Amino acid sequence: MDSKDRYLTFALAKGRLARTTLELLEKIGITCEEMKDKDSRKLIFVNEELKFKFFLSKGPDVPTYVEYGAADIGVVGSDTIMEENRRVYEVMDLGFGKCRMCVCGPQKARELLMHHEMIRVASKYPNIAKEYFYNKKHQTVDIIKLNGSVELGPIVGLSDVIVDIVETGSTLRENGLEVLEEICPLSARMIVNRVSIQMESERIKKLINELKAIL
Ligand code: PRP
Repeated sequence: MDSKDRYLTFALAKGRLARTTLELLEKIGITCEEMKDKDSRKLIFVNEELKFKFFLSKGPDVPTYVEYGAADIGVVGSDTIMEENRRVYEVMDLGFGKCRMCVCGPQKARELLMHHEMIRVASKYPNIAKEYFYNKKHQTVDIIKLNGSVELGPIVGLSDVIVDIVETGSTLRENGLEVLEEICPLSARMIVNRVSIQMESERIKKLINELKAIL
């Protein structure tokens, strides 16, 4: 099959990240009308004319689809890229979805962090938490994996602190918690499959250049 006849497939993280990505792609002439229907439960969409395919997956699965080549390109948060640690190329910071990965907790937990106490850390991101406490801070901690509403951890006595995403800070404020340490800034990134980056280098380079021109 001639390369120009092959679909270039995008895996997008369902939700706001996917919507913002589609708005961005629209600005460079890559449209997908049927994906705009908010009530649709469809997961895969095609632009026949431009030979693009888009599918929506759970955020943490985006790097998996890209590593195995089920998608050539993925758009996902840098938190997910760090946590999943897949063999993909990160080619571009898309500049949106900006937030921070932080250690958060009640004010009184500051002491525990300062004195390198053996503490409990709840997180949806156990790998990021482990990397930060073990390799950066050289502090031995007990990491407890949760799947969401992580702020509950310190409130109900499951953990001393949490490692979580902070965007506006309102979830923390409304639950009497605060940022204790900042781990790193986060934003949406474009990732590419390691074979696609060679086989489809022209189309991918063109896409990156067009996006860079409007960002
Ligand atoms: C994320 C994150 C925080 C919150 C931060 O949760 O885990 O709880 O958003 O945003 P804020 O600083 O603007 O309040 P999400 O809404 O994705 O749900 P989850 O708790 O199920 O992960």
